[in-house]
Amino acid sequence: MLEAKDLLKATLDNGRALMRIPEDEGQSQPGEVRTPVLIPIRSLGVNHRGRIERHLLALSPQDRYLRFGYAAQDTHIERYVAGLDFDRDEIFGIYNRKLQLLAVAHLAYSVDAEFQSCAEFGVSVSASARGRHYGSRLFERAAMHASNDGVHLMFIHALSENSAMLNIARKAGATVERDGMESEAFLYLPKATLDSRMTELIEEQLGQTDYRIKQQARQFWRLLSQIQKVRRTLTGDDSKH
Ligand SMILES: CC(C)(COP(=O)(O)OP(=O)(O)OC[C@H]1O[C@@H](n2cnc3c(N)ncnc32)[C@H](O)[C@@H]1OP(=O)(O)O)[C@@H](O)C(=O)NCCC(=O)NCCS
Repeated sequence: MLEAKDLLKATLDNGRALMRIPEDEGQSQPGEVRTPVLIPIRSLGVNHRGRIERHLLALSPQDRYLRFGYAAQDTHIERYVAGLDFDRDEIFGIYNRKLQLLAVAHLAYSVDAEFQSCAEFGVSVSASARGRHYGSRLFERAAMHASNDGVHLMFIHALSENSAMLNIARKAGATVERDGMESEAFLYLPKATLDSRMTELIEEQLGQTDYRIKQQARQFWRLLSQIQKVRRTLTGDDSKH
């Protein structure tokens, strides 16, 4: 776990040292230990709806089944995304350099006033980005956010065959109850502290900064390629490219 001073240092240097995403390093091999890096996670607003939809639609039928608990068709996913309530719930995401969403987590708050201190966690990681602890980090981030929001109990509904998800929940200290093909995991959350609030603030700041850097880099490369195109047209050098 990173300490507050590491996070502060990362904020001061725009997070360059910690925000390396091992995008090109492929999936971890079993037993392989990788140097931990901070994974920039940001909360997603309504203007990210389109990218959330693209991320979910790209999941295979089996992953859709694991994520939603049923064989979700495109129309189900579109309806789910259209119904996301960004004011009530919290949606977290991890972007790559091309600003594609590699992972999305949904922390859904109870709509029932009687269960206001409960929230449900759901997550998906793109197949090409698995095994980099994105799922685990999103779980930790969601648990910290929920705790800071006064939630006492976070639960996860998963199919019993979903070893990866149940592994994440168990490692975080959740109690898993199996009921045939389905399982429920319950995680009792600690009370918020000044440290948990500060850590979340800094992590969100890093996630936002990382996103802005990626956005600017993309805009810069687009501009460069336009300049090159104009230059090639002016010099009549089009045939070479
Ligand atoms: C479940 C899911 C989110 C995990 O994402 P991930 O980023 O690959 O998970 P992590 O890298 O954080 O790995 C979590 C742990 O599970 C283990 N794990 C990963 N895949 C596993 C598998 N197929 N079987 C058993 N364990 C597995 C990892 O080794 C890791 O344990 P470790 O910390 O001891 O090394 C991802 O597989 C996914 O999107 N699945 C489809 C949708 C889904 O099932 N969502 C969950 C239901 S809400």
